Amino acid sequence: YFQPYVAVVPSNIAFLKYWGKSDEALQWPANDSLSMTLSDLHTKTKAQVSEIPEHQVRLNDQEVFREDKVGQKIFKHLDYLAEQLQTREKLIIESSNSFPTGCGIASSASGLGALTLAAVAAWTASPSLEVLASKGFSMDRLIQWARIGSGSACRSLYGGVVHWHRGSCEKEQTVNQAFDESHWPLMDSVVLFSDAEKSVGSTEAHRSAWTSPLFAPRLASLNSRRDAMLQAIEDKNMKFLGPLIEQETLEMHGVIMSATPSVHYFGAETGKFLAWLRERRTALDLDVYFTLDAGPNVHLIYENHLHERVMQLLQETVDSSRILSDHMGAGPVLTVEE
Ligand code: DP6
Repeated sequence: YFQPYVAVVPSNIAFLKYWGKSDEALQWPANDSLSMTLSDLHTKTKAQVSEIPEHQVRLNDQEVFREDKVGQKIFKHLDYLAEQLQTREKLIIESSNSFPTGCGIASSASGLGALTLAAVAAWTASPSLEVLASKGFSMDRLIQWARIGSGSACRSLYGGVVHWHRGSCEKEQTVNQAFDESHWPLMDSVVLFSDAEKSVGSTEAHRSAWTSPLFAPRLASLNSRRDAMLQAIEDKNMKFLGPLIEQETLEMHGVIMSATPSVHYFGAETGKFLAWLRERRTALDLDVYFTLDAGPNVHLIYENHLHERVMQLLQETVDSSRILSDHMGAGPVLTVEE
């Protein structure tokens, strides 16, 4: 009898964005990134070794196959992990997100992160992160594997504020926790705007970053923004951090829009909301700042104690059913079901 191993891995929101790759095959990013790991927004993945001829994968209660668009990334990553562990055993995988599917919240960070932990735990019969580490599967090693599945996934394996260092070659990239979750309690309230269909997937869009005339100048100056962000977080200075976060996301979208092919991930509704936010927060003297990933949703970043005021403000213009609020979290949890 093989036990089911369960990994819960939170999503993360980047302050300094991972955008563009120096080497796609090696998953080597063009720049460092910094993110905050969330808590309630997560993926829970159960993996169990089984004597079946092919992996069986269920995602949010639906079976997915190797040929499916969503299945491709998952099966490819399972093949990669199996090769690393030199195993031919097949897994039964059951995975679900705590947030609604298709709401445009990136599930690849939490999804590929949870898949990595659950699969490695099942294949090595490791009931906890400590046992995994004692068997030679340190967090460093698991992070490098998660990165192959999806770049942003490597940042979800630590809690708090996480720094993914690009390094000067692929082998040198590392991920570390810059600050733990108790350093500075921050929140992320996601305002959901329709994400009917992403015309260009982020993997494809990463590729075209190099065609934007803004990309090289961005890379040349990004380390100073990174250092300024780290300093602002250390000082717990939102008036300093907020504008840096906004400049960063607008610059990333500038790169995306000025690339070939040009992509607009956010439309009129999102733009209108951002203009409204800028006006209202000034009127209320409220330190709430925005960031967007490769999609139309707006992530509002602010200190925990402002939560009530931010919710009150949002009530003026957004239905509460379109808001998902979360706080900075402690990172992944691995358990075994008896
Ligand atoms: C905009 O991690 O989804 O969210 O490595 O190709 O899987 P792949 O890309 P992915 O890119 C995420 C980019 C981003 C910014 C960020 O999270 O840093």
